[in-house]
Amino acid sequence: MKKLKRELKITEDGSYTFYMPDLDEHYHSTHGAVQESKHVFLEAGLNFTDKNPIHILEIGFGTGLNCFLTLLESIKTNRKIIYHSIELYPLEKDQIESLNYTENTVPLGKDLFQKIHQAKWNNNVEITKNFTLHKLLGDLRTSSFPEKYDLIYFDAFAPDIQPDLWTAEIFTKLYESTNSNAILTTYCAKGIVKQALRASGFEVKRLAGPPGKRHMLRASTINVKKL
Ligand SMILES: C[S@@+](CC[C@H](N)C(=O)[O-])C[C@H]1O[C@@H](n2cnc3c(N)ncnc32)[C@H](O)[C@@H]1O
Repeated sequence: MKKLKRELKITEDGSYTFYMPDLDEHYHSTHGAVQESKHVFLEAGLNFTDKNPIHILEIGFGTGLNCFLTLLESIKTNRKIIYHSIELYPLEKDQIESLNYTENTVPLGKDLFQKIHQAKWNNNVEITKNFTLHKLLGDLRTSSFPEKYDLIYFDAFAPDIQPDLWTAEIFTKLYESTNSNAILTTYCAKGIVKQALRASGFEVKRLAGPPGKRHMLRASTINVKKL
């Protein structure tokens, strides 16, 4: 997959995404990349829990959009965030530079976006005093995680493109990497995903999706699981 072509596309809210013609797959919803990220990961995830500090794991760093929006939220709410994100196929420098996510953000938005992309892989990097980033260069299927997490952003390519990332085996590994009262959110609400999450011990709720998508999922760990 490393050598697959990526084409820059504009989505309906004006924010960019990449399209991979060989897979016929986008990195984000074509109805709005920023809009989707805010709805699925910030509103249904980060802002659904008030844990502070909060440990987040993202599956699929990609363009860094989820990470960047979470960083902006941390600045806005003065919340301490430890953000880990795994990626197997990092974007090229010119691809990162072509993205428009820093338009109309905080004055230092451009610097912060650069800082998260320049952060060294497999190291803890302090982006702000409240936001520490650890980008893991590796394969979700074979990696183990260095911490336990309160919130997981599950943002892999769709199950019909990468079915081996949406299995009960993977979700069990993630469940075992969570703290009590943890949640996982994902844009995908397919039946097989719900089943795999439930088989791994998560309680699963279907929520309204972002504009253009009917549903999304939020899964929670059960409080007594660690007893
Ligand atoms: C839907 S895109 C992620 C979008 C990203 N969260 C963003 O905001 O741009 C899925 C990401 O998962 C990555 N990926 C694919 N297979 C992977 C694997 N086995 N392990 C880790 N990451 C993987 C892809 O390279 C891609 O960046």
